[in-house]
Amino acid sequence: MQKIWAFLSENGGDRKSLLINIGGGMLTDLAGFAATTFKRGIDFLNVPTTLLSQVDASVGGKTGINFGGFKNEIGTFKEPIAVIINTDFLKTIDRENFISGFAEMIKHGLIFNPEHLEELRKFDIENIDYDHLQKVIRDSVNVKEYFVANDPTEKNIRKALNFGHTIGHAFESYAMQQNKPIQHGFAVAYGMIAELFLSVKECNFPLYDFENLTNWLLKLYGKFEISENDFASLLELMTHDKKMKKAGLISLYFLKWEN
Ligand SMILES: NC(=O)c1ccc[n+]([C@@H]2O[C@H](COP(=O)([O-])OP(=O)(O)OC[C@H]3O[C@@H](n4cnc5c(N)ncnc54)[C@H](O)[C@@H]3O)[C@@H](O)[C@H]2O)c1
Ligand SMILES: [Zn+2]
Repeated sequence: MQKIWAFLSENGGDRKSLLINIGGGMLTDLAGFAATTFKRGIDFLNVPTTLLSQVDASVGGKTGINFGGFKNEIGTFKEPIAVIINTDFLKTIDRENFISGFAEMIKHGLIFNPEHLEELRKFDIENIDYDHLQKVIRDSVNVKEYFVANDPTEKNIRKALNFGHTIGHAFESYAMQQNKPIQHGFAVAYGMIAELFLSVKECNFPLYDFENLTNWLLKLYGKFEISENDFASLLELMTHDKKMKKAGLISLYFLKWEN
């Protein structure tokens, strides 16, 4: 972070400078934060190079860095002046990183766009058509943009984008604690299975669709093994938010599909 500020400062960066951020989500989060704080904020442009950053991290104006052991503890809300998405970058991405980003696309389909979900189900991951992918990414980004445009600072409906993430983050942190880290999108996929199950219980989400979706997700992401002995630790991780912990609450997002 300091290196970016130092570079801008030493090379005559001023309030009219433009920072071009080319890289994965980690890079666009970090450099976006550097841009929004340098000289009280300069323009920046994102060129995301991983699937996860193309469909999620580089869009929506959240920037941030980890601090004091907490993820995204310091950050800002500011949209880049543009996001340039080119699927040619994805030709060098490994399968794990690819399907990690794919999980966020599935989430977008699930929460808002059934046609997008259907298109993802038909998408051949083993033999990627990058031109077709460019169009599918556009559809996915449109879903994120809809929620961002209607609730830029996540006061209400943007929270739908957290579907699968409350339980998913707990899985992600738990796997990290066990020294068996899993990628974010894998954790989200397992979190979506768990939250879909709760949606069946709490919101009458159709059981048939739940089973169907679960089988597909398990085929793509494999299984995340946990036992009853892990429940207490997972619950603790889900209540890490101080306010929620005090009240003994966990915030979860359920899905309701009209038949
Ligand atoms: N701001 C947001 O709204 C938001 C949303 C989701 C995730 N995020 C953040 O995004 C980050 C994860 O993003 P990510 O999955 O892109 O991870 P990443 O940025 O760590 O990139 C993953 C790996 O891919 C490599 N890489 C990047 N582009 C490549 C390419 N074209 N070919 C080959 N390798 C390439 C990187 O060097 C890295 O090793 C996390 O830090 C997360 O917090 C932010
Ligand atoms: Zn996510």
